[in-house]
Amino acid sequence: MTHALPPLPRIPAHVVALDDYADLSREHMSEGARAWLDGGAADELTLKDNRAAFARLKLKPRVLQGMHGGHTELSLFGQRFAYPVLLAPVAHQRAVHPDGELATLLGASAMGAGMVVSTQASVALEDLAQAAHAPLWFQLYMLADRARTSALLARVEAAGYQALVLTVDAPVTGVRNREQRSGFVMPDTATAVNLDAGAPAHIARPGESPLFGSPLVAAAPGWRELEWLRAQTRLPILLKGILNPDDAAQALGCGVDGIIVSNHGGRVLDGVPASIDALPGVVRAVDGAVPILLDGGIRRGTDVLKALALGAQAVLVGRPYMHALASAGPAGVAHVLHMLRTELEMAMILSGCRTLADIDQRILWQ
Ligand code: FNR
Repeated sequence: MTHALPPLPRIPAHVVALDDYADLSREHMSEGARAWLDGGAADELTLKDNRAAFARLKLKPRVLQGMHGGHTELSLFGQRFAYPVLLAPVAHQRAVHPDGELATLLGASAMGAGMVVSTQASVALEDLAQAAHAPLWFQLYMLADRARTSALLARVEAAGYQALVLTVDAPVTGVRNREQRSGFVMPDTATAVNLDAGAPAHIARPGESPLFGSPLVAAAPGWRELEWLRAQTRLPILLKGILNPDDAAQALGCGVDGIIVSNHGGRVLDGVPASIDALPGVVRAVDGAVPILLDGGIRRGTDVLKALALGAQAVLVGRPYMHALASAGPAGVAHVLHMLRTELEMAMILSGCRTLADIDQRILWQ
């Protein structure tokens, strides 16, 4: 007798763009989980601007350029990527799919895309590393004491992760009102299994004392912790959550290997600029010293192209693959990556760019 595999979720034919998964996911997620995933901080000004800012940028097409030998390959920290799109770290993925990060990883590996695993992943980091067939990076939050951070880092290194993404823009959780109004509670099945105690970020709840004075905020990391981390590991360190060019310059002095321009998908400090609007300032400050990546509001291949035109080497995408994960599991995640890659190639061809090296400000309508 043969055992039939469970049927793959069918991807409806009308799902032809990343936003279609946002719509489809309504059928597969609770209202509360959607508020957690889709929401931003406070009035969501930054969340909305992350997308609006891409729409404001206009492309300048080029014709008759000849596209023989074109490709989207790049190399970052000695690793080869077939195209410049990675999956951003998103916590607690078993909140939207029973296999959580493992399902995401299967989709990413099928498409040869890099994935960044969150400190707050809901699957053991070793299990993910074993299943990976594509670049795998780990997103680190500094934990309240160095011994715990060291222990986590040792596991990450032993498991074979190839880079560290240190997220520095969320020492406190944002005022995520949409999520608060929904009454969402993270299901027990989606806890952060790689942490021995408690989540790293903090939000004051009614009845708690304000944040200043709380032990967690008193232990919030500073630049010295970055210097400490630099001395602990030989893995490349990317700093995630940089908008201010002065922070980028200071990070270079601490020996970081890369910068991720990001406002955490508009989830932490409302009122900061769209990440694509912050990119040029950071690019000027870094002046080619290390690679710069960007996330926040990437929904189209043309968004990827615009980010590369303004000086990013690669981008990361967050919510869209989670919508796809909830709706169609690994196949959905792979489909999102496939659509972004195909749209990027189309946009490159229509802008006269044969390779990523051809992409610069000249393809933007000034
Ligand atoms: C995040 N993000 C995030 N970042 C991080 O460094 N560690 C984390 O654990 C998480 N967790 C997380 C959960 C959820 C539900 C969301 C939506 C986002 C931020 C993420 O890595 C990325 O910066 C943004 O999601 C990018 O914006 P888009 O693509 O969602 O617009």
